[in-house]
Amino acid sequence: MFSRFKKDQPAPQAQPSRAVPQPVEAPVSTSAQPAPQPRPGPRLTKPQAAAAPPPADRERKRRQRIIEMKSQLHQRLLDNLNLAALDGASEAELRSEIAAITAEALSEINFVLTSDERHVLNQDLYHEVRGLGPLEPLLKDETVNDILVNGPQRVFVERNGKLELTDITFKDERHLLRIIDKIVSAVGRRVDESNPYVDARLADGSRFNAMVPPVAVDGSLVSIRKFKKEKLAIDDLVAFGAFSEEMAMYLEAAVATRLNVIVSGGTGSGKTTTLNALSGFIDNSERILTIEDTAELQLQQVHVGRMESRPANVEGKGAVTQRDCLRNALRMRPDRIIVGETRGEEVIDMLQAMNTGHDGSMTTIHANSARDGVSRLENMIAMSGIEMPLKAVRSQIASAVNLIVQVTRLQDGSRRMVSITEVTGMEGEIITMQEVFKFERTGMEPNGKIIGHFTGAGIRSHYAERFKRWGYDLPATLYDQIPAR
Ligand SMILES: Nc1ncnc2c1ncn2[C@@H]1O[C@H](COP(=O)(O)OP(=O)(O)OP(=O)(O)O)[C@@H](O)[C@H]1O
Ligand SMILES: [Mg+2]
Repeated sequence: MFSRFKKDQPAPQAQPSRAVPQPVEAPVSTSAQPAPQPRPGPRLTKPQAAAAPPPADRERKRRQRIIEMKSQLHQRLLDNLNLAALDGASEAELRSEIAAITAEALSEINFVLTSDERHVLNQDLYHEVRGLGPLEPLLKDETVNDILVNGPQRVFVERNGKLELTDITFKDERHLLRIIDKIVSAVGRRVDESNPYVDARLADGSRFNAMVPPVAVDGSLVSIRKFKKEKLAIDDLVAFGAFSEEMAMYLEAAVATRLNVIVSGGTGSGKTTTLNALSGFIDNSERILTIEDTAELQLQQVHVGRMESRPANVEGKGAVTQRDCLRNALRMRPDRIIVGETRGEEVIDMLQAMNTGHDGSMTTIHANSARDGVSRLENMIAMSGIEMPLKAVRSQIASAVNLIVQVTRLQDGSRRMVSITEVTGMEGEIITMQEVFKFERTGMEPNGKIIGHFTGAGIRSHYAERFKRWGYDLPATLYDQIPAR
């Protein structure tokens, strides 16, 4: 049985490769510590003979029993298999090893599973050994956008803009920590009590963040933004009702004529998706440099240079900030610079780049409206320690930023571009702006779905002449106000 992958020597002491933090609430028991002696796989205890409990109760107990058995079998696999050899094993080889171990264990305890149950058990064990355990089916589920774990017993997902509690659980906090550790150690990072939170990118490109106890009070917190290979393009977003055809035409002209664009919105509102879609309007001949904390953008052009910032290592060295990347990017002859999200000191360099020949640059910020976005920029400049009179700060912003696109996730889960606002200049100390398009909300259906429509504001674009000069002669009717039906 499992000849090729079985350890030659007795299983070594199950020492974790690094200190895995213990959950605060976990009782200090010997079973939570690494085993003191080499030992064979844990004995599988025989199921208790029960005095015919009611069927629902029996089913619950049976399910519980399968969960326990899974964890015992997993431990047995870890103890008996040579994990280094398994790295090179094919999926079929590993699956057949697992099936063999399961069959042996089940016959040992005389426990009969249906073929479906056996399939699920083998599949779960495979995910434990090769993948990310209980998270694996969620990572594969195309309808899931975000995975959010609040301690071992509560795993939420976001589908269609709405959060749902799933029936997926981890066995306990240790199990959850082991999966977190597996993810972060694969990318050369660590997370423990002295280093309780971490950002990483999964092998499939998904964005991963974890925070472990004791900073996470009720068990580890994990957030995963799934990476979508098929990014939503402008046409998809129009089809989903994220914005109108007219707005898409306007945005095409704005991006192609190299206006500097900021996409503003709340968390998970669709900023990165919108930025990525807008980048589709950039000409293929341009050299584009992208700078992100976690590389999410997927530009379709030929000439794209991607950069990803890096946090300091455990000794506090080696950090490369977005600002470092941005400063370096300016020496790399970019036609356009795209910063995934401006959130700190890099704002100065971003605005300077927008002002000095790298027009057509784009970024996102975390803000609730165009006006709020401008205040956020002012605050970021103030926080970066640059002493500049407010008027000078504002005139810097007014000349750098041409357009603020506001995206929002509405209560019904739909994501919409609720406003496109042009920055038109300064009047005294005030930055002047005009909204050219907006989403007008008119009501709500009984099922909670929001009713509304996109409309122009009835004002001609401040950049209409520029669009025309560049060959984008948009009809004046594009900006017409559309009455509610
Ligand atoms: N208009 C849309 N329709 C449907 N799904 C969308 C839409 N826009 C974005 N999404 C999906 O919503 C999720 C969040 O989008 P995105 O990553 O762009 O948000 P974000 O504002 O950049 O989030 P964060 O603040 O975390 O960076 C993604 O899974 C994306 O595919
Ligand atoms: Mg984003």
